[in-house]
Amino acid sequence: MSVDSPEQLRGLRRAGRVVAETLRVLRSVVAPGVSTGELDRLAAETFARHGARSGPILTYDYPGSVCISVEDEVVHGVPGRRIVREGELVTLDVAAELDGYHADAAVTVPVGSVDQGRRRLMSATRAALAAGIHAAQPGCTLRDVGAAIERASRRHGFSILRELTGHGIGFAMHEEPTVFNWAAPAARARLTPGLVFTIEPMLTAGRPEIVLGRDGWTIRTVDRAPSAHEEHTIMVAEAGPVILTAG
Ligand code: MF3
Ligand code: CO
Repeated sequence: MSVDSPEQLRGLRRAGRVVAETLRVLRSVVAPGVSTGELDRLAAETFARHGARSGPILTYDYPGSVCISVEDEVVHGVPGRRIVREGELVTLDVAAELDGYHADAAVTVPVGSVDQGRRRLMSATRAALAAGIHAAQPGCTLRDVGAAIERASRRHGFSILRELTGHGIGFAMHEEPTVFNWAAPAARARLTPGLVFTIEPMLTAGRPEIVLGRDGWTIRTVDRAPSAHEEHTIMVAEAGPVILTAG
């Protein structure tokens, strides 16, 4: 969507705060021995407490309130009986709807202590997200955003999983435009004030190719290398990007 009133911005900010709060709750309980199903139940409780609903359930009838992807799972991991173990990376991807407004954010967190390669992957992914957000200035293009993400990833020595993208958001969870994590030549439209979209780089140390799992939802790396994913919903304001899911 493109925000055209203070009321719309207030609505989006409220949805963004529920997403941020849910991520805070979930990341605080990630520890060796916790199941992804328990994390999902906590997310459902947090949504209910705020009168919010799960974006994935609302939009796709997804079999969980949030997506939880472990290690080589990149996105759309289905929560369930899987127990997370010391040394693994867990991606918590939370999208919520409140009073008709949608927001979406994700973080990758370590379970206990993780090796240096995984720590580097996490910080590279955070740096790529920060670079993408910084590039989302009015008058710039989505291609500039993608180019900044790609540069930051390369600089840290990791690859972007190019098939996965960010997206417009607001009145629905998935809207136009597609937000590429690389300098896609077609992404030439200028960013206008009010435009709302997600920026969500997904990085791997391995081969940058993905496959869809047998459950029909979970997307993982083809070579089983771990991956990381960081996401915010932002609005392009006159003065620059505003993060709506920062809490
Ligand atoms: N936050 C996720 C995304 O933008 C939500 C996925 S919903 C699913 O892709 F149903 F596709 F898993
Ligand atoms: Co998203």
